[in-house]
Amino acid sequence: MAESMKAVRQFKFGGPEVLVYGEAPKPELKAGEILVRVHAVGLNPPDWYLREGFEALPPEWRPEGDFPITLGTDVSGVVDKIADDVEEFAIGDEVYSMVRFPEGMFGDSRAYAEFVSVPAIQAAKKPFGIDHAHAGAVPMSLLTAWQFLIAEGHDVPNPIQSFPHVPVPLEGKTVLVNGAAGGVGHFAMQIAKWKGARVIAVASGEHESFLRDLGADEFIDYTKTPPEDFVRDVDLVVDTIGGPTTSRFLRVIKAGGALFPIFGLGASGGEEAGQRDITISTTQVRSSGAQLAEIGRLLDNGTIRVAIDSSFPLADARKAHERAAKGHIRGKIILTVA
Ligand SMILES: NC(=O)c1ccc[n+]([C@@H]2O[C@H](COP(=O)([O-])OP(=O)(O)OC[C@H]3O[C@@H](n4cnc5c(N)ncnc54)[C@H](OP(=O)(O)O)[C@@H]3O)[C@@H](O)[C@H]2O)c1
Repeated sequence: MAESMKAVRQFKFGGPEVLVYGEAPKPELKAGEILVRVHAVGLNPPDWYLREGFEALPPEWRPEGDFPITLGTDVSGVVDKIADDVEEFAIGDEVYSMVRFPEGMFGDSRAYAEFVSVPAIQAAKKPFGIDHAHAGAVPMSLLTAWQFLIAEGHDVPNPIQSFPHVPVPLEGKTVLVNGAAGGVGHFAMQIAKWKGARVIAVASGEHESFLRDLGADEFIDYTKTPPEDFVRDVDLVVDTIGGPTTSRFLRVIKAGGALFPIFGLGASGGEEAGQRDITISTTQVRSSGAQLAEIGRLLDNGTIRVAIDSSFPLADARKAHERAAKGHIRGKIILTVA
């Protein structure tokens, strides 16, 4: 009989109440994989999108598979076993990873569990300067900010637009980050600062001192002042809200500038952007151990800091999802595994 472990599973789509903590089979290792004993899990919007059955996505985008499913992409933990062909890691290594995203939503081993199998190529050594709780919070949000702002495209077609996403120069530029306090936003603004940009952070007023402490040069409380009525001559807008409302930022941007909607589906404004030589570009974050290794140096030396909004034991994943549903997230929600 297969060995078992504790995990959070769901047997149907629905609200946070469908998340059930209990026994599940321990993942078996395939070639090229490591088995990670999970210490911390970072939560991300795809977790609730999948929990609900991806209702917001067009039908052709909805992943298919069988129940039960386990959610979760982001982990930090300790290598417990390695497949015979894996040479980069050893048992006992502390690692972090965004596991099989976007390809592994159904069927494969996922993160809300005591153990997760991880393709070795998608893992990196945990930055030694931060603990598992902070490292588990990092992968999807920081890889997203990195792949939008720093990394040069992907080696696979961009599923969200017909042309590859290409980052723009940041040094000496003015960058507005909308949704700056959230998972992606708080990393995006720190990357922009690190690269020498002046940053305007847009968030609700309660996050002002948090964002100024992370380096925001200016702060706009969107609940009082719509940023699009107030700001002009920005080189780049990173809109972590994205979607159909993103085109309101075009009037904020200089001719020749760029708008990056992080949620790219339904992004609007192509015609106006074309007239003013503004690039609208988006992409889909992808697992990458190599990029996590590179980013790890910035986490080690404190260039990029990780904010924890709230932390819950694995068994309380449902409460973590209830927290997420209330919105106004500052940094990351995590689960800890004893
Ligand atoms: N393209 C990709 O591959 C990719 C990857 C990761 C995430 N995403 C998408 O990016 C989006 C953000 O993800 P996330 O993980 O950063 O989410 P998050 O952690 O929930 O952050 C969202 C932030 O937006 C703020 N906010 C909400 N309404 C706002 C508004 N009208 N104006 C300005 N700020 C507002 C919230 O706080 P306040 O309202 O209190 O300021 C919160 O801090 C999601 O839609 C996600 O699906 C896409």
